[in-house]
Amino acid sequence: MKRTLMTAMLFMGCMGFAGSVLAADGSSLYKTKCVMCHGADGKGTAMGPAFKDSGFVRSSGDQAIAEVILKGREGAAKKYKNIALGMPAQKLKDEDVSALVAYLKSLAGNEPAPVAAPANGENGKKIYDKYCARCHGEDGSGSQYGLALQPKAARDLRTNRLFFSDDELLIIINHGGAWREMPNWEYVLTDDEVRDASRYVRALNYGPDRKNGEKLFKEKCALCHAADGIMKKTWKAPDLDMSALGSFEMARTIRYGIHDTLMYPREGVRTNAEIADIVEYIKGLKK
Ligand code: HEC
Ligand code: HEC
Ligand code: HEC
Repeated sequence: MKRTLMTAMLFMGCMGFAGSVLAADGSSLYKTKCVMCHGADGKGTAMGPAFKDSGFVRSSGDQAIAEVILKGREGAAKKYKNIALGMPAQKLKDEDVSALVAYLKSLAGNEPAPVAAPANGENGKKIYDKYCARCHGEDGSGSQYGLALQPKAARDLRTNRLFFSDDELLIIINHGGAWREMPNWEYVLTDDEVRDASRYVRALNYGPDRKNGEKLFKEKCALCHAADGIMKKTWKAPDLDMSALGSFEMARTIRYGIHDTLMYPREGVRTNAEIADIVEYIKGLKK
């Protein structure tokens, strides 16, 4: 009893200190208000998702992230069904929220996740060959069968690091079912098997074709984004050679679009490989 009280007092003491002395320092705020659920260095815990390599943090605008922090996300709005808790709304000053958003962005990083060493590479390959290759092809580019599936063809998995964080990849493999033809592997494979398969998929590689990217850009994007694009000014399309986006954010922007703008999603019309080719071409323009 006495011990609990002591701990509680110590805890409150720390909060008071950091709140008043280090007001707009994102890292200190994080340590007092977020670390218990989101983990040291944003690695995540059983009580909150990771920010490291987080696709949500990397690809969302500051406003959208600030909104989750201030309003929280509980009940039906929850995105992570594997975490029982919700995100509690936080009472913070605007400058503290801005500092936190900047800190989360720094934790998330701006480039595709590096290739992780397969946890159990041999096993990952065996699982992939047995359960996934039928639709996704031996090399991840899609089998004849998989590419002919309706209403949605199997997608190229060699490009997965451009589109998903580690966590998102696990969620997709476990809960694929929402996409009709992609099974819910959580009902077939153990957690370890899903992890091994995902690590194997993570290490697949696609060598982008810059020439094809250039051709597609000129046909499909130049109208709005090229310096001489006839719609550039009217529709206020940004100069992509000056874009601050890294490859990961750019690939996701092209695939999923920017809500409520003329930059509509390309998911249904461009393959993953085509998007990777276009990103490669735009990255070349930046240099
Ligand atoms: C009591 C635990 C807890 C605390 C404290 C907490 N969070 Fe969360 N947070 C969560 C949970 C759980 C979720 C996931 C909710 C869901 O399922 O969508 C979450 C989600 C988020 C998300 C969205 C992540 C995503 O991938 O969609 C952001 C951003 C976030 N929290 C920021 C913060 C910040 C900043 C703090 C500190 C000021 C904080 N959280 C404190 C539990 C917590
Ligand atoms: C019966 C066919 C089939 C099998 C078997 C299958 N998938 Fe899929 N998968 C699909 C289809 C179809 C999609 C695309 C769904 C969509 O676009 O909405 C997909 C999408 C995916 C995606 C998302 C790719 C993206 O860019 O959106 C991942 C990751 C994935 N599958 C991994 C796997 C893994 C790992 C296995 C084996 C454990 C597997 N799949 C087995 C049909 C299959
Ligand atoms: C109809 C005009 C139009 C076409 C065609 C178009 N875009 Fe866009 N794009 C926009 C507009 C407008 C924005 C800015 C949206 C906003 O945030 O207000 C934008 C934003 C973007 C961004 C975000 C840039 C940044 O720095 O935030 C990327 C990346 C992008 N487009 C890539 C592409 C690619 C690649 C293509 C071709 C597949 C394409 N766009 C085709 C109008 C277009």
